[in-house]
Amino acid sequence: DWIMSDFAKDQIKLLKEKIGDKKVLCALSGGVDSSVAAMLIHKAVGKQLTCIFVDHGLLRKDEGDDVEKVFGEEFDMNLIRVNCEKQFLNKLAGVSDPETKRKIIGEEFIRVFEAEAKKIGVVDFLVQGTIYPDVIESGTKDAAVIKSHHNVGGLPEHVDFKEIIEPLRDLFKDEVRNVGRAVGIPEFLVSRQPFPGPGLAIRVIGDITKEKLDILREADYIFREEVKAAGISKGLGQYFAVLTNLKSVGVMGDERTYDYTVALRSVDTSDFMTADWSRIPHEILAKVSNRIVNEVNHVNRICYDITSKPPATIEWE
Ligand code: XMP
Repeated sequence: DWIMSDFAKDQIKLLKEKIGDKKVLCALSGGVDSSVAAMLIHKAVGKQLTCIFVDHGLLRKDEGDDVEKVFGEEFDMNLIRVNCEKQFLNKLAGVSDPETKRKIIGEEFIRVFEAEAKKIGVVDFLVQGTIYPDVIESGTKDAAVIKSHHNVGGLPEHVDFKEIIEPLRDLFKDEVRNVGRAVGIPEFLVSRQPFPGPGLAIRVIGDITKEKLDILREADYIFREEVKAAGISKGLGQYFAVLTNLKSVGVMGDERTYDYTVALRSVDTSDFMTADWSRIPHEILAKVSNRIVNEVNHVNRICYDITSKPPATIEWE
C-alpha cells in the first residue's frame, strides 16, 4: 500500500524532528496499535525509545514470547518485559465479578508500568497507540457503560513526561495495519484480531486460577489453529474459546468424567458494536471439538455460541 508507506515515511521524518535527542517511553501490549506506534518511533529514534511490556500472565499461548522475539530480538528495540503473572494472579484470586476483574487488572497494570518507568527516570515523551475510532469514542462516552475498557483513556498519573505522542490518531484500523506492513511488522502480528486488555481473565468465567488459564490457552490455541488451517480467518471478526465455569458428566473409555465445558465464540462484525455469530462450517467445528476434548485435559464438552450482539456481548464477561 503505497499511500501508507508514504504516511510511514512522513511520520518517521516528523517524529525524528520532533523528538530530536530526547527520550521516549511506550507501553507495548503486542496489540496492533501499540506495536505500530512503537515501530514508527523506533524507526525514527531507535534506542531513545524504551518499550515496557507488562506480561500479566493473561495472554494467549506463546503471545508474550512472540512479542519479545519480534520487538526485542528481531527489531532490537529497547524492550523491558516485566513478568508479573504471580502478582496479577494473587490480586485476582477468588474474584469472579467481571468488572472487579477489569478494575484490578487496570490498576495493577498502571502500577507496574509506573514502577518500571520510575527506574528509567524522566522521559520527554510518552507514546500512545490511540487510533481515530478511540478519539471519536471517547468524545461520546455518555452512553451507558456496559463494560469498562481500561485500556482506552487510562493514563499513568505518576510517570514524568512532558508530552504525549499519538502517531496513529488520524487512522482507521485497516490503515494502521497497512502502516504496520509498510514498516515491516510480521503479518501474524499485523493481522491479529482484537484482544481485550484484561486478556484471558474475562474468558475464564468465574474465579481465575493458573490451571484454568492453562486449559483455556490450549483450547483457544487449537481453535485458532484450525481456523487458520481452514483458511477462514479473514472473514471472522473475532474468534476465541471461553472456559465456562460449568462442569458436566462425560465418559472417556470406561470411565466417568466430570470436567469443564469450553465454549467457542466467533463473530462477524464490522464495528464490534453489533455482531452476528459466524456460520463456521460444521466440519471445522467438529474437528476443533474432537481435538480439544482429546488433547486438552479436564475438558469433556464443547459448545458453540449462537447468539448475536445484542442481546449477548462478544465476550462472555
Ligand atoms: P463486547 O464483549 O463488549 O466486546 O461485545 C466488544 C469488543 O471490545 C472488546 N472488549 C474489551 N477490550 N478491554 C478491552 O480492551 C476490555 O475490558 C474489553 N471488554 C471487551 C471485545 O474483545 C470486543 O472486541
